[in-house]
Amino acid sequence: MGARPQFVKLAPIAWTSKDFVSHGIIHTGQHYEPLLSDSFFETLHIPKPDFNLGVGSGSHAEQTGKMLVGIEEILQSHRPDHVILYGDTNSTLSGAIVASKLDIPISHIEAGLRSFNRRMPEEINRILTDHCSNLLFAPTKTAMKNLHNEGLGSSSFLSGDVMIETIEHIVREIDSDIPEEDFIFCTIHRAENTDNADRIKDIIFKLRKSLVPVHLYCHPRLRNILTKLGLFYESQNLKLFSPLNYMDSIKKISASLGVITDSGGIQKESYILSKSCMIVRNETEWVELLSNGAHFLDSDLISITSDWWSRVKVKDEESLFGKGQISKFILEKILNFHS
Ligand code: UD1
Repeated sequence: MGARPQFVKLAPIAWTSKDFVSHGIIHTGQHYEPLLSDSFFETLHIPKPDFNLGVGSGSHAEQTGKMLVGIEEILQSHRPDHVILYGDTNSTLSGAIVASKLDIPISHIEAGLRSFNRRMPEEINRILTDHCSNLLFAPTKTAMKNLHNEGLGSSSFLSGDVMIETIEHIVREIDSDIPEEDFIFCTIHRAENTDNADRIKDIIFKLRKSLVPVHLYCHPRLRNILTKLGLFYESQNLKLFSPLNYMDSIKKISASLGVITDSGGIQKESYILSKSCMIVRNETEWVELLSNGAHFLDSDLISITSDWWSRVKVKDEESLFGKGQISKFILEKILNFHS
């Protein structure tokens, strides 16, 4: 793994594997800024990676190519019994290509997510990874259905979402009830939102019209683009911040009135923390979230001038993303696979 959302998914597996099995970590270096990487290892008590390829940023081919070479060298010399991959980043896909060609069994955690939008790099990464994997762990019933539809049902398990364990762990570490403040928690980082100048200009223009202050925690991709476009400045209702470590991010979401995001992880975190969420996209892989109305797709931020966050109360009555020790379930299935 190598990118921020993967550290959050790896954490419970790293904690639980201590009691079970020897577990090593390859960090590709896709995310390298301390605020996107080191701070997550510290806050989530994840052991230091055994390898860091230091690949860094680049075009998709450049980044993926360097990862393939680096991962292959490590897997060839260490010959692990099993490779676990998380999510849908370029780091995930690289691991899938290398391990499958070296004939090392693969588990994909967060399998079966589909946006059905092939222009997203993540959609390509997740489809290819699923089809290279031996064990597929689906976080939701919809993901499980997608895997069945693609002929992958017999190697798939409905495990629930490991991220739930990470959120619950952090919520336990946060002392008391966090009082609500008058601000909206916001992140925008997806290529389809940031990499088109007209699109990102429109999003920023709309955010400045919010009824209450928007706190925008800027991924470097966004910061760089806004700086280039001369848009990296604050206004009365748009405040700009650096990315947060995981604990601070959970605290800030808890303190906010509501959330605006294009991140998959933050859509779920806001749901678990009972916050309404405006999803700045045309579709979501987490379709279950849309059922109660508190989470809604609004790619053009049409509702920005209303009090959208107070319309519906969010309650996870059905435990949409699973319960209990999801990481233990996954590790047991992996060990069974080898027994
Ligand atoms: C990646 C994942 C995306 C995930 C996101 C989480 C892919 C294709 N995308 O997107 O699915 O939601 O991580 O954050 O793998 N940069 C820095 N410092 C860093 C990392 C990145 O400045 O430490 C800047 C660089 O300008 C870089 C840009 O961010 O070119 C994009 O980084 P990249 O790793 O390509 O993808 P993300 O946008 O982070």
